[in-house]
Amino acid sequence: MARKFFVGGNWKMNGSKAANTDLVQLLAKGPLDPNTEVVIGVPSIYLSQVRTLVPENIHVAAQNCYKVAKGAFTGEISPAMIKDVNVDWVILGHSERRNVFGESDQVIGEKVGHALDEGLKVIACIGELLEEREAGKTAEVVFRQTKVISGFVKDWSKVVLAYEPVWAIGTGKTASPQQAQEVHEQLRNWLSENISPEVAQSTRIIYGGSVTAANAKELASQKDVDGFLVGGASLKPEFVQIVNARQ
Ligand code: 13P
Repeated sequence: MARKFFVGGNWKMNGSKAANTDLVQLLAKGPLDPNTEVVIGVPSIYLSQVRTLVPENIHVAAQNCYKVAKGAFTGEISPAMIKDVNVDWVILGHSERRNVFGESDQVIGEKVGHALDEGLKVIACIGELLEEREAGKTAEVVFRQTKVISGFVKDWSKVVLAYEPVWAIGTGKTASPQQAQEVHEQLRNWLSENISPEVAQSTRIIYGGSVTAANAKELASQKDVDGFLVGGASLKPEFVQIVNARQ
């Protein structure tokens, strides 16, 4: 079965009640390709608001969550809470969580496992630093990150793997279509050898890092690029064109 094209918008720490309303109105007007699964990642304080605003063709994600259901973890939110406000996706392992907030491979794996156990779907992020790419370690790094995550995944149909090279995030430096395709293919081969050929064939591997309306079509034409995780451009009208990149 063909993999459904998937475009996530990661709003990061941006938005306000008024700005969210405007942006959702713009997305609702679209038109958005019905063959693309669209998920917007919203700051936790606005999850309820945005969930009530979005039409049925747009899904909502939290940008992080903790690895247990409840308790003395000041400032954290749990998958149970995310589900309680009718949100069914969460982004985990984003490079900003890894590199700004010091989350380890292990804690990200545990979060992925708990979120899936609680019935959330997960956008699991991986990606190498510039110095790792320059040292020829890209495959080694993304395989290591994927291996830890995979140890906590029982049902891959609930997981989208987001390859986000850290050097391309928020820098305006996009991976070339060939660079993205190369890593996506390596990841699909890794899934085939380490999980199963079926999981490799059916799992969406999406690209993130300075995706814009100008580069989305060429990236989307690569055979192992199944969509995008978009930061800055997900706050702008051009997000509609990125959703429609396969049209
Ligand atoms: P930019 O699209 O702003 O580079 O961010 C990418 C990203 O981190 C998406 O999660």
